[in-house]
Amino acid sequence: MIIGDRLKRCLAEARHIVAFTGAGISAESGVPTFRGAGGIWNTMRPEELASMEGFLRNPRLVWEWYAYRKRVIAEVQPNAGHCALARMEKLVPDFSVITQNIDNLHRRAGSVRVFELHGNIERNYCITCGRRYSNEEVLQAAGVPRCAACNGNIRPDVVWFGELLPDDQWEGSVRASESASLFLSIGTSAVVYPAASLPVIAKAHGAYLVEINPEPTPLTERADEFLQGPAGSVLPELCDVLYEARKVLP
Ligand code: OAD
Repeated sequence: MIIGDRLKRCLAEARHIVAFTGAGISAESGVPTFRGAGGIWNTMRPEELASMEGFLRNPRLVWEWYAYRKRVIAEVQPNAGHCALARMEKLVPDFSVITQNIDNLHRRAGSVRVFELHGNIERNYCITCGRRYSNEEVLQAAGVPRCAACNGNIRPDVVWFGELLPDDQWEGSVRASESASLFLSIGTSAVVYPAASLPVIAKAHGAYLVEINPEPTPLTERADEFLQGPAGSVLPELCDVLYEARKVLP
């Protein structure tokens, strides 16, 4: 991949870099994406499996689907893309990851400043009293786990269709996007709002907008650069350029 002079300069000089990620960054770890070839929503119904109405109608079906995903995600490892972002954070004064993923792979790779817009599959809470539970506490249950305090049903702490994003994560993400000098949109189809508005917000506030994806998306024509390819190959290359550039700066 040829990294142009403009992007090299940005990598060398940017005070604040934001990496905005979607399911595509975890594809090379073996976590299926939602859309496109092999996408989860090609064969599963989101309104049945990822909504509060679906959970209230059939808690067992929804819980079993998430218990299965919890087990799949627990088995996979962060890939070269996640690891490159974690290394980049150490080289830049201000670096934020904003992720739509619930798989916790950024933190497992070593990223520290991570905004999770759609929750985290390693956490759970009671729908009645809000008490929080770890996966270890709930995965042994036969069927839907029940709250030890109030006997309510426990659900995964992920954002479902029709639900608001967590306030603090959203507000932090907007602030980071507004102050970014370089904004990398990585492995997202950029069609799910409000998350998909962040690259546009960043660009409107002066960020250089770079998209990394094997396929074009609706964002591609607004991006300043489109780096076509898998995150696991493109991000280590960007990280190497960043490392070389920052090494020689005082
Ligand atoms: P999608 O499944 O919609 O899009 C995945 C994107 O990753 C596509 O644009 C692929 O071309 C790209 N891709 C595939 N392999 C890749 C690779 N190796 N490297 C880089 N990119 C690759 O996933 P999201 O955009 O994350 O919401 O979906 C957004 C939201 O829709 C999800 O957070 C989820 C879903 O419904 C909730 O759960 C609330």
